[in-house]
Amino acid sequence: MHNYSEKFEKMKIAGNLAARTLDMLTDYIKPGITTDYIDKLGYEFIKDNGGHSAPLFYRGFKKSLCTSLNHVVCHGIPSDRILEEGESLNVDVTAIVNEHYGDTSRMFCVGKASIKANNLINATYDSMMKAIKILRPGLKLGDIGHEIQAYVEEKGFSVVKDFCGHGIGTIFHEEPNILHYGKKNTGIELVPGMTFTIEPMINAGKYETKVLQDGWTAVTKDKSLSAQFEHTVGITENSYEIFTESAKGYTKPPFNN
Ligand code: MF3
Ligand code: CO
Ligand code: CO
Repeated sequence: MHNYSEKFEKMKIAGNLAARTLDMLTDYIKPGITTDYIDKLGYEFIKDNGGHSAPLFYRGFKKSLCTSLNHVVCHGIPSDRILEEGESLNVDVTAIVNEHYGDTSRMFCVGKASIKANNLINATYDSMMKAIKILRPGLKLGDIGHEIQAYVEEKGFSVVKDFCGHGIGTIFHEEPNILHYGKKNTGIELVPGMTFTIEPMINAGKYETKVLQDGWTAVTKDKSLSAQFEHTVGITENSYEIFTESAKGYTKPPFNN
């Protein structure tokens, strides 16, 4: 038992609910449905399973999750927009259970996405997992960013700099910021008990973003495709734990359904 065991157990419960919400949504994400329908399904699933959605009423956000389509980088607002064949969608779910947060997102292909979209999605997922796999006490924050940046830039993609991962626990967003780019052996050291998200946003084109008039929707400036995945993790005595893994083994598309 460590002094953070109880916190990790609670975060696992919240993380698991967020992951199960994405698992549940997987069957519904098809051409013809609206992003509002995804929001409604997510809201109800989280409520029916003993939690509540962190985004709802967070800093004026009016929906229960984020739906970021195609060139939307993050914080897309669910609406009456209908999903079309060939689009790529990130759904980002944050559940609160017993005051603890679990934050996770995945990419979904609406029908069949282009090879280009699939390559971007694969690189984004793999960059997140490569960064997670090196986590251990003593690693520095810059090492995380470097791992992601080196991997995706080698493939000709770019790392978004305007948004980052974050500390999380009983607060949605807290210190430290987890940048998805950086230099090896720089920044603070990881220590056992730390909990944070890794959530790289990777663009097919340039890294610059802008936020639309609605105050939330962040898009690529050059309108190129963007992809993102997110896990909530905790640092253990000599390794890490992922709190938001899919119980169904759903990692990146295709999800074999
Ligand atoms: N879930 C997002 C994150 O990964 C934050 C969404 S805030 C919202 O940090 F208000 F847009 F929902
Ligand atoms: Co997050
Ligand atoms: Co999130």
